[in-house]
Amino acid sequence: MSTREVILTGDTPTGQLHLGHYVGSVQRRVELQDTHDCYLLLANMHAYTTRSDHPDEIHSDTLEIARDYLAMGIDPSKSAILLQSETPAIAELTFLFAMLLPFNRVMRNPTLKEEIKVKGLGDNYSFGFPLYAVGQTADILAFRAHAVPVGEDQIPHIELTREVARRFNKLYCGIDDNVEDDDPAMEELGVFPIPRADVGKVGKLIGTDGVNKMSKSLNNAILITDTPKQVKKKLGQLYTGRQSMTDPGDPDSSLMQYVDTFITDSDRASELKDKYVRGDNIGDGHIKVEVAQAISELLAPMQERRSQYDGDDSTIIDIIRDGTARANIRTEETLAMAKEASGLGFFERKLSF
Ligand code: TRP
Repeated sequence: MSTREVILTGDTPTGQLHLGHYVGSVQRRVELQDTHDCYLLLANMHAYTTRSDHPDEIHSDTLEIARDYLAMGIDPSKSAILLQSETPAIAELTFLFAMLLPFNRVMRNPTLKEEIKVKGLGDNYSFGFPLYAVGQTADILAFRAHAVPVGEDQIPHIELTREVARRFNKLYCGIDDNVEDDDPAMEELGVFPIPRADVGKVGKLIGTDGVNKMSKSLNNAILITDTPKQVKKKLGQLYTGRQSMTDPGDPDSSLMQYVDTFITDSDRASELKDKYVRGDNIGDGHIKVEVAQAISELLAPMQERRSQYDGDDSTIIDIIRDGTARANIRTEETLAMAKEASGLGFFERKLSF
């Protein structure tokens, strides 16, 4: 058996992925796939929390995410790309974990609260909406993952996952209440390692409105498929509030975040930043053009790879069928361990895939 650490992460299909996903998490996953056992989950069930009336859209968005993963450099022979809805251990563990969490604790999750606010859900959300937070703990723990590469906004979900893992191990695996998370006994005796969040290079990339986190629904996202012309146009809209070339610029502005993130020549990045901060005859427009060029250079090989899968759903489906089969080997093993520990182990059950 492999002794490498296990990585699990995923995305809810909401459309295509964008640059924020790339620098926040996918870039990190590409690095990790050589040294870790990586599982990438297409969280299609989670899309039903707010869009159950759009099943066809969710279906095609799910395939689009897989395409974006491949475009961004995920290698399906190294990383298993799996379908949440065909990994039944996740649903079974969700039910069990829901018993280990006080209802109020789930509702206190700041990411859920923020989503209710941003999406204007008020108190008109489905029962399944808060349940998805419990489901996400099962997504992670079904793989007995050690680390979860995610953007900053997902940290509350990882906190909740750590609580479930701790509670399960202490309740059902005879681990003493005062054993710390990183004590080797936790993993040796418990079913679940306590997973950590692994935040990417840029935890939160500001969108091209210069204000909010990059998000497709806020219409401030640069997509992986954007042409150089589109990238340039979108960056042109980035609001900085600076009036002229001689205005001293704010080093923490969104434009400088883009310089830091996308200008890969670090001498050039420092030079641009320095001139901007001093207001040394450098216009926002000039910097934006340079950043746009750097972004388009980053996107070009992704677009090239993505074009290989254009209109070819059956190759994508083959890839996720294979990834899901690999995932089910791991998660059925976890489920059997969890059932055994929690009084649900009566006889061996084998599913065939
Ligand atoms: N909630 C994540 C998002 O909004 C997607 C997700 C579902 C996820 N399950 C996960 C992320 C498990 C990390 C680990 O994109």
